[in-house]
Amino acid sequence: MPSNKSLRFHTRVIHAAQSPENWDGATIAPISQTASHLHPTAENLSSTFGGKTTDHIYMRLTNPTNRVLEEKMSLLEGGKGAVAMSSGMAAITNACMALLRAGDEFVCGNSLFMSTYVLFANVFKKYGITAQLVESTDLEALESAINDKTRFIYLETIGNPKLDVPDLARAAEIAHNHGLPLLVDNTLATPYLCRPLEMGADVVIHSTTKFLSGHGDATGGIVIDGGNFNWNKERYPDFQPFIDRKGPLAYLDKVWREHHINFGTTQAPLHSYLTMIGLDTLAIRMERYTQNAMQVANFLKERPELTWINYPGLEESPSHQTAVKQFDGKGFGGVIAFGLRDQKTCFKFIDNLQLIYHLANLGDCKSLVIHPYSSQYLSFPEDTRQELSITSDLIRMSVGIEASEDICEDLARSLDSLS
Ligand SMILES: Cc1ncc(COP(=O)(O)O)c(C=O)c1O
Repeated sequence: MPSNKSLRFHTRVIHAAQSPENWDGATIAPISQTASHLHPTAENLSSTFGGKTTDHIYMRLTNPTNRVLEEKMSLLEGGKGAVAMSSGMAAITNACMALLRAGDEFVCGNSLFMSTYVLFANVFKKYGITAQLVESTDLEALESAINDKTRFIYLETIGNPKLDVPDLARAAEIAHNHGLPLLVDNTLATPYLCRPLEMGADVVIHSTTKFLSGHGDATGGIVIDGGNFNWNKERYPDFQPFIDRKGPLAYLDKVWREHHINFGTTQAPLHSYLTMIGLDTLAIRMERYTQNAMQVANFLKERPELTWINYPGLEESPSHQTAVKQFDGKGFGGVIAFGLRDQKTCFKFIDNLQLIYHLANLGDCKSLVIHPYSSQYLSFPEDTRQELSITSDLIRMSVGIEASEDICEDLARSLDSLS
């Protein structure tokens, strides 16, 4: 097998972390469906608890199937290690909590997935932690919000559902100038379009539920550690035991040992298995999502029923230039946001679709739409919705890999019915 680094992404995504010789010749990582693992001697179990072996103990700690996904995702993102968890939100919670104590602050872009926003703005607040929200692409505002209490910077590669694209290399530079790590939720871009660690970010987080699994069949999340950040004693006083134990992987050890294990955010091995089957086709699916999304965006922008449209692939999108630079000309992802006259029109449009599914998810093979204002953001106060650009005329569409003609025909049929 050639080394991982010499292989192109399309090959790597299939062959990374493959180990048939350890799987009785199986070409897919077996599902290791066991809560606990036998140990031959008391000495062996004691050594494993002491971190002297990498044997498995108990599913909440580690699992052989999950470990393959962790190795694979770490290789694809260019990290030094990863921990798989039960959902994207579990990954975000653990990734942040490992850096925070009561009284701390962090700075994040305000273009955030709905539950991430609730976690940051409402839940953390109850524990004395303050999220300083700034416009995601306004890096001057981001820098100005940093103070002595700041512990990290947090951004989404492509904000959901605003679809803005912050300059990650510049954000990493700002973070490092202040001795802070940059954490990036790379869910909408995937390592096919963008590898934040290569741009200077320190930690990458994914909801594997979306494009990585690609079939809407398994929830999951993962935290990937770049392993390069210097966790200095002044700002991160509780890191020392983890540094002593794991050196450059101190952060990941803290995420795993202190939070993942004790919060019980265990990933089901079946979900890791399904995610890895999805990963085999990630590169070709991403090619297709991005081609289809570009065609659908070009089709939609000509339709008179639309009051506005945003897709990073459109030249008129405020994030187009950053996206071109950051995604290496490989496309702009599969999610489009657009406006119709009002909420009533949005409902009619959704109800008249015949092919495109109406549900709360994205990154599936199938095309999906949702009206975020009346669903995910239903209970949000109006001023918060405005702050997050969740307007009552907004439709979010996740373009699938069907024939683009069929997607556009379904959209056209439904848009025609509005007049
Ligand atoms: C950008 C982003 N991050 C995180 C999540 C949360 O992932 P999960 O639903 O797997 O918890 C989502 C879910 O839609 C998302 O879009």
